[in-house]
Amino acid sequence: MAVRTPAHEERQRRCRVPSAAGSISRHSVCGRGTAEGGGGGRRSEADRRGAEGAGTRTATTRRRGESGADERGEAGVGTGRFCRRTAERTMTQNIVPIISLRRLTAEVHELTMAAPHIARDARPGQFVNIRVDDHYPLLRRPFSIFAADGERLSVVFTVIGTGTRALAAKRPGETLDVVGPCGNDFLAFEPGEYDTAVFVAGGIGVAPFPFLTRSFPANRPFVTYVGGRNSGLIVTEGLHEPHIATDDGSLGFHGTVVDLIRNETADGRFGKVRYFTCGPTRMMKALADHARSEGSACYASLETDMACGVGLCQGCNVERKDGPSKYALVCKEGTIFDTEQVVLR
Ligand SMILES: Cc1cc2nc3c(=O)[nH]c(=O)nc-3n(C[C@H](O)[C@H](O)[C@H](O)COP(=O)(O)OP(=O)(O)OC[C@H]3O[C@@H](n4cnc5c(N)ncnc54)[C@H](O)[C@@H]3O)c2cc1C
Ligand code: FES
Repeated sequence: MAVRTPAHEERQRRCRVPSAAGSISRHSVCGRGTAEGGGGGRRSEADRRGAEGAGTRTATTRRRGESGADERGEAGVGTGRFCRRTAERTMTQNIVPIISLRRLTAEVHELTMAAPHIARDARPGQFVNIRVDDHYPLLRRPFSIFAADGERLSVVFTVIGTGTRALAAKRPGETLDVVGPCGNDFLAFEPGEYDTAVFVAGGIGVAPFPFLTRSFPANRPFVTYVGGRNSGLIVTEGLHEPHIATDDGSLGFHGTVVDLIRNETADGRFGKVRYFTCGPTRMMKALADHARSEGSACYASLETDMACGVGLCQGCNVERKDGPSKYALVCKEGTIFDTEQVVLR
């Protein structure tokens, strides 16, 4: 557990610089955690308090191509190779004003902030860690970056519990404490020998795909699939002609998004595909099984419980199938992994 000292506080105070957009940025200091001896699993909010204190000041992340990618830029499909750190980029902690909060669908809210320090560096698939309230909940909540246009940064969320309820009650002009950008990005896994990229979103796991759609290389064909329990959860904004599936049949195909993909890819119309996915673990596991059965690569953005979000608390581990250590830290080595390299449960 990291302990804050007066020297820490003083260094942090001196690092505060006001930005042009009115946000406050704390340049973080470099620190490392390891995946060795993971197994922390789910822990209570109280258990994680120490990690939260440390997490606000310590952060490194990888640049495009450094996560799981070898020297040729290939993402290392099935090689057992894990993210290798060759350079570091520092994430920042920012106090940012809320610009807007609106509903995208009956159940999905979009929150837009003035966060230039994060937005300028952000890449699709990365996330931000938001402290939604000064008092409670104490732990930050991670959210995928939905849009980043240089100055503005957006996330989308559904109301689940304490954190998201507090976020939904915010108003423009209020501020949030945001750390980011965190984690690796989908574009690191784009290079390779295949014909079509298939984006597969489940529920609020749609969050990174509008940003990925805008950023994807123009010479690589892609197709988008979105699934959800019902139409109120289906976000299509920022997506290119999405194929839609709902569990209750209220919109698009009646069934799971993986069933829809099985139906539509069976005739080989997309050639050799590579899947990029984010959503519930059960859906991503079904997709990974399907990808394996057809010999395709599949890269999944994992959502584990997180506390510090920067590799310190060991609370977000995922079991590796192979590799230098038994566990990988999702917040630091991911969140995006080759599904052949980790155990999805
Ligand atoms: C890398 C990463 C990216 C994420 N991106 C997004 C995003 O873009 N949009 C978004 O809405 N959420 C996202 N999440 C989940 C988000 O961080 C919150 O955990 C979630 O929204 C619930 O927070 P809460 O404080 O409202 O609920 P809590 O009060 O923490 O939880 C209330 C109850 O809901 C359960 N619960 C917590 N999370 C979920 C969940 N995801 N699904 C079902 N039940 C849950 C808890 O176990 C608990 O019983 C992401 C998580 C990770 C790790
Ligand atoms: S190590 Fe703390 S959340 Fe990943």
